[in-house]
Amino acid sequence: MKSRREVWRASAMALLLAAGFAGAGCRQDMHDAPRFNPLRVSDFYDDRRSARPLIEDTVPRGWLMADDAFATGKVNGQFVAELPVPLTLDLLKRGENRFNIYCSPCHSRTGNGDGIVVRRGFKQPPSYHDPRLRAQPIGYFFDVISHGFGQMPDYAAQIQPQDRWAIAAYVRALQVSRHANVADVPAADRPQLDAQPPPAGATKPSTEAPKEKEGAAR
Ligand code: HEC
Repeated sequence: MKSRREVWRASAMALLLAAGFAGAGCRQDMHDAPRFNPLRVSDFYDDRRSARPLIEDTVPRGWLMADDAFATGKVNGQFVAELPVPLTLDLLKRGENRFNIYCSPCHSRTGNGDGIVVRRGFKQPPSYHDPRLRAQPIGYFFDVISHGFGQMPDYAAQIQPQDRWAIAAYVRALQVSRHANVADVPAADRPQLDAQPPPAGATKPSTEAPKEKEGAAR
């Protein structure tokens, strides 16, 4: 049996602990700041919505899309034929990188429409090397990425405009790559073509004349 003293000590401890917890519960700290839980009703606003609608015509910092060509790929409703950002090697490399992530699963790395997702049953997209798609202005590719096309979903949420242009430029480069001939290689670089045989398994570069004059910068 416990001595009286032990019982007394135990109850004193319990009392102290209880007082401690009660004290902590009363503290109003920052974790208890006035705020609304998501979508909680509010008596402060007339429409009683605590989640406020965006104020019209406000633009988050860094998101002012004043340049139509850059933001939509169109000027006066027409697709732009010129890349609205500077064409650099870095842009093409970025485009290649994004293309291989976002587009190649369906369109394949060469753009012929034979990606792994298609091999497993998804609708086959047309090849980028089709004359119809080769003739499209570059703004068209930006538009397809932004809004999707037929069964292809849009990639507006995943790919920001700057990267959409990088991809569009890279798609153009893919198209040009199938229709280039020796005359397109700067004279100074031509000796390199003979110096480096293509890797095993690669097909011989096409010597077919381009069907139309096409600048890589378009
Ligand atoms: C999930 C598979 C899929 C992915 C990923 C995909 N596409 Fe497509 N794409 C398609 C299909 C399917 C079509 C044909 C749609 C149709 O005709 O219904 C298509 C069509 C197109 C066309 C041709 C439109 C026309 O006029 O015929 C372009 C250009 C294109 N895609 C670009 C892209 C680019 C650029 C990306 C990457 C940002 C991309 N696609 C990612 C499946 C995909």
